[in-house]
Amino acid sequence: MVREILQILRDIGFDELILESEDFGRVKKERLEKLEQINREIQVCTKCPLHKDRKQAVLGEGNLFAKVMFIGEAPGEEEDIQGRPFVGRAGQLLTKAIENAGYKREDFYIANINKCRPPGNRTPTIEEQEACFPYLQRQIDIINPKVLCLLGATAYRGVMKQEVKITKERGKVLNYQDKLVYITFHPSYVLRNQAVKDTFFEDIKKAIELSL
Ligand code: URA
Repeated sequence: MVREILQILRDIGFDELILESEDFGRVKKERLEKLEQINREIQVCTKCPLHKDRKQAVLGEGNLFAKVMFIGEAPGEEEDIQGRPFVGRAGQLLTKAIENAGYKREDFYIANINKCRPPGNRTPTIEEQEACFPYLQRQIDIINPKVLCLLGATAYRGVMKQEVKITKERGKVLNYQDKLVYITFHPSYVLRNQAVKDTFFEDIKKAIELSL
């Protein structure tokens, strides 16, 4: 009987059943506490010069059980003000691409290589990326997503420790630790180059499909 009900649920599109058990609640609380601890650390972090100009550090946000983690570069002006990732124009485009794929932004986890806004939105230096990366690594370990979707060259450099030409390499599936890595454009690049918008939307869909 249970098997039949599960089969019906699968047939109508549910491929995961999360039981609100005590265990689930406990794991959720543990993950939240660990992320809150990182947030306390980054708000007072002085490991790189970017701390000098920040209004606040931006940890990241989203589903604590996300199968896909979207990783960008660093907070921009709006993110620095609001304390949330990808809430400016680039963020709105990312949200649109996720919705276009049939999902909600809250279904996934969104974070950045650097937690503090670089002055004038310049690219964080390699030293700044490396100083901040351990925080992201802890987020990856806590959320344990199946797919890391790297948005742009800095996200790629920050995680994979190699330079890349996104226009050449986008769409590739690689590995990082036990995770799949999907590479695509940074949404700010897409805003400046509308010709790649459809490709970007397709890429976001493919990154999500990889996790299913
Ligand atoms: N660009 C990023 O890379 N990250 C943000 O959070 C916002 C803009």
